[in-house]
Amino acid sequence: MAFVTRQFVRSVSSSSTASATAKKIVIKHVAVIGGGLMGAGIAQVAAATGHTVVLVDQAEDILAKSKKGIEESLKKIAKKKFAENPQAGSEFVEKTLSNISTNTDAASVVHSMDLVVEAIVENLKVKNELFKRLDKFASEHTIFASNTSSLQITSIANATTRQDRFAGLHFFNPVPMMKLVEDTPGFIVNRLLVPYLMEAVRLYERGDASKEDIDIAMKLGAGYPMGPFELLDYVGLDTTKFIMDGWHEMDTQNPLFQPSQSVNKMVAEKKLGKKTGEGFYKYK
Ligand code: 3HC
Repeated sequence: MAFVTRQFVRSVSSSSTASATAKKIVIKHVAVIGGGLMGAGIAQVAAATGHTVVLVDQAEDILAKSKKGIEESLKKIAKKKFAENPQAGSEFVEKTLSNISTNTDAASVVHSMDLVVEAIVENLKVKNELFKRLDKFASEHTIFASNTSSLQITSIANATTRQDRFAGLHFFNPVPMMKLVEDTPGFIVNRLLVPYLMEAVRLYERGDASKEDIDIAMKLGAGYPMGPFELLDYVGLDTTKFIMDGWHEMDTQNPLFQPSQSVNKMVAEKKLGKKTGEGFYKYK
C-alpha cells in the first residue's frame, strides 16, 4: 500500500532460515543512483531523516547542480520550519548536507549500502543493465529499489539475483514537498495522472481550448495547485513521453495510452519543460 513515512525501515524475510520469520533491517546507508530532480529529492529527504547518503551520477557537473538544488530546497524548508530560530535552521541545512556525499561510480559505493534507490531514465533495458551490474557489487543484505514511474517492478528485479530484496519506491516531484511514496504494484497516481495530462494535451491539440485556459480551469475549477501544462513542464516532457511510450507498447489499442505528436516533437527539440528553459511555457 501507499505509505507516507520517510523512514526507510523495511522488514524482509530472512533467506538463511527455512521459517518465514521476519528480520527487521534498519536502513542507515542509502545510495541514490541518478542526480536529476527525483534522485536529488530522494537523496535530500533520506539525508534530512538521518541517513547517510551517497548520490551517484555520471558526471561531477551534474552532481554539483544536484547538490546546489538540494541546498536551495533545504534553505526554503529551514526558513519555514525554524522561522523562530534561524540558527537551528542553518544547523539543519548544514547537518543534512553533511549527510550527503557524491560519487560518479555506483559500483564502488554499493558494497556498504543498506538501500540502493535508482532514479535514472525510464527505460527498462537501461535500468536492467544498471541493476545487473550493481547486483555483483552490493552486499548480500542490500535492498534494491526503483523509483520507476511506469515499469513493472518484477521485470526490473528479474535482472538481479535478489528478487526478494527488491522494491518499488515511487516518489513525487518535488520530493521534499510531496508526502506520498507508493510501493503498491502498478502504482496509482501515474495511472490516473498521466492519462489526465495527455488528455489535456489532446484537448489543446484539437484546438478546443488554449493551454493557459486549460491550466486556469483546472486550478480554479478542480483546486489543483498546478494546471496540466504547468505540471507537464514541471515533471519533464521526456518523463511523460517515456511513460506513454512504455504503456502504448504494452497496450497499443488503449485510447488512454496514445502518444502525442506535439509532445514527441517537443522532446525531439529538447524542449523538456522547466529544466531546459522551455516546454509548453518558457522559463527564465
Ligand atoms: N523544496 C522545498 N520547498 C519548496 C520546494 C522544494 N523543491 N518547492 C516549493 N517549495 C515551497 C516554496 O518555498 C513555498 O514555500 P512558502 O509557502 O514558505 O512560500 C511553498 O513550497 C509553495 O511553493 P510556491 O509558492 O512556489 O508554489 P505552490 O504553492 O504552487 O507550490 C508545489 C509548489 C508544492 C510544487 C505545488 O504547486 C504542487 O503541489 N504542485 C503539484 C505537484 C505534483 O502534482 N507533483 C506530482 C507530479 S507526478 C510525479 O512526480 C510522478 C512521476 O513519476 C512523474
